Amino acid sequence: MKLHVNGQVREFEAEEDTPLLWVIREQLGLTGTKYGCGVAQCGACTVHIDGEPTRSCVRPVSTVTAEQKIVTIEGLSLDGNHPVQKAWAALDVPQCGFCQSGMIMAAAALLKQKKNPTDADIDAAMTNICRCGTYNRVRKAIHVIAKGGDVKTAGLDIVEGSKA
Ligand code: FES
Ligand code: FES
Repeated sequence: MKLHVNGQVREFEAEEDTPLLWVIREQLGLTGTKYGCGVAQCGACTVHIDGEPTRSCVRPVSTVTAEQKIVTIEGLSLDGNHPVQKAWAALDVPQCGFCQSGMIMAAAALLKQKKNPTDADIDAAMTNICRCGTYNRVRKAIHVIAKGGDVKTAGLDIVEGSKA
């Protein structure tokens, strides 16, 4: 089989019903995409397929064509300088981090579709589950990015605000 992943055509062998997640992690060695629930609930396995956030744990690999462009967390930017990644780091959004590659992929897709999402837009798009409860920081970071704010300065407000 062939898939277009992070700008490269990758060849591998897999059963047709193998979830895309396992091909990404095991055959292609891209372990930034995580396994959480395996039943499309948590979003830890989120990747982009032609820009659409997709839960790769329930997507049979045979349903993705070599023409479709898959982007994983490793391909979101060359050196971690995507605006979402920079804001996440500056604002200390992650705690344990396990859910965060999926969160970042979902947030990046949302901000591409809606430049200035409302809280309702964020709630509708960010259905990822975080056991550490980073939801407030995720939401605030998305707003800061959307407004083109200074994440360093805004981060101080967000940290203060999150204590309330
Ligand atoms: S591992 Fe795919 S949604 Fe949870
Ligand atoms: S940061 Fe720990 S599960 Fe989300």
